[in-house]
Amino acid sequence: MKALILYSSRDGQTRAIASYIANKLQNTQNCDVFDLQQIEAIELEQYQKVLIGASVRYGHFSPALMKFVKRHAVQLNQMPSAFFAVNLTARKPEKRSPQTNAYTRKFLLSSPWQPKQCAVFAGALRYPRYRWFDRVMIRFIMKMTGGETDTSKEVEYTDWQQVDYFAQELSRLQYEK
Ligand SMILES: Cc1cc2nc3c(=O)[nH]c(=O)nc-3n(C[C@H](O)[C@H](O)[C@H](O)COP(=O)(O)O)c2cc1C
Repeated sequence: MKALILYSSRDGQTRAIASYIANKLQNTQNCDVFDLQQIEAIELEQYQKVLIGASVRYGHFSPALMKFVKRHAVQLNQMPSAFFAVNLTARKPEKRSPQTNAYTRKFLLSSPWQPKQCAVFAGALRYPRYRWFDRVMIRFIMKMTGGETDTSKEVEYTDWQQVDYFAQELSRLQYEK
């Protein structure tokens, strides 16, 4: 049976992480990778495990995440399932765990779905690609939090080794006997 990977991504980093994990899993398991914003109906019964990844924008995950989770909570809770969050706060290692990353902690507290495995990954900062307003806002936040303020720069903070470990753990995730 296949694994299902769903992502919610605005600027592509979460999508890139989802594809990377899918590639890692492909050695042992076929994967379907879909954009959470685009899927309408999905039959979870055809999958052996599910991974959902979502990025944070202005303090929030996309509403599509909670909508999907609420709709499929019963089934998700019965399956081997995992979640990863992507944001820039997690560029600081001490804010890179589900307990210490405020967005992720808050999500897990309010979510009817409790994933068996969970991680927080640092995202990317790509000033030149942002609209003027977003660039100004992100630069302001970076200045406040001691981050990169040079708007000509693109910085990828994702720790791909951390993603590797997560993918390995995910490949071992199975139905509870
Ligand atoms: C407009 C905008 C708002 C963002 N807001 C936050 C935020 O509130 N907290 C945070 O930690 N990171 C924030 N980020 C950083 C993103 O989470 C990070 O760039 C991530 O890699 C985006 O993932 P995506 O490319 O999959 O959309 C923001 C980025 C942008 C462009």
